[in-house]
Amino acid sequence: MLWVKAFHIIFVVSWFAGLFYLPRIFVNHAMATEPAEIARLKLMEGKLYRFVTPIAGLALITGLWLWFGFGFAGGWLHAKLALVAFLVVYHFYCGKLVTRFAHDENVRNHVFYRFFNEIPVLILTAVVILVTVKPF
Ligand code: HEM
Repeated sequence: MLWVKAFHIIFVVSWFAGLFYLPRIFVNHAMATEPAEIARLKLMEGKLYRFVTPIAGLALITGLWLWFGFGFAGGWLHAKLALVAFLVVYHFYCGKLVTRFAHDENVRNHVFYRFFNEIPVLILTAVVILVTVKPF
């Protein structure tokens, strides 16, 4: 079980590296005016999203393995799963934004993306407290 949990944490941390960095690129992209810079940011967004998506899958698979394989239960896990479901929606919305930026169809400004960038921080904080403290 500890090996599964170790890899669960490794995949979760790697997933969050992408979820913290990708919206930051969106902030810069929303402010960018130079064609060369815009082309570089599009490349970075596409590569990062394609890299982090399978890692997100591995974080979820190892989580489900812990849940079903080792009989974890409790209100904390249900609350955690609700937050994880929101995180998965956030992840795929980032994918939609990558496509929108790639087609020069972005309609949001950099201020929106600065707030958007903070959402994973709030979710990570809540999930880590739930899974370690197990308050309910
Ligand atoms: C399908 C999704 C997921 C499921 C079913 C799941 C389930 C679990 C379970 C059963 C454990 C073991 C808890 C224990 O040992 O007390 C665990 C550990 C952990 N999970 Fe998840 N998890 C999922 C996704 C996530 C995500 C998205 C995050 C981060 C936001 C996360 C963060 C953690 C952390 C940090 C631990 C280690 C806690 C510790 O060592 O005490 N998990 N997870």
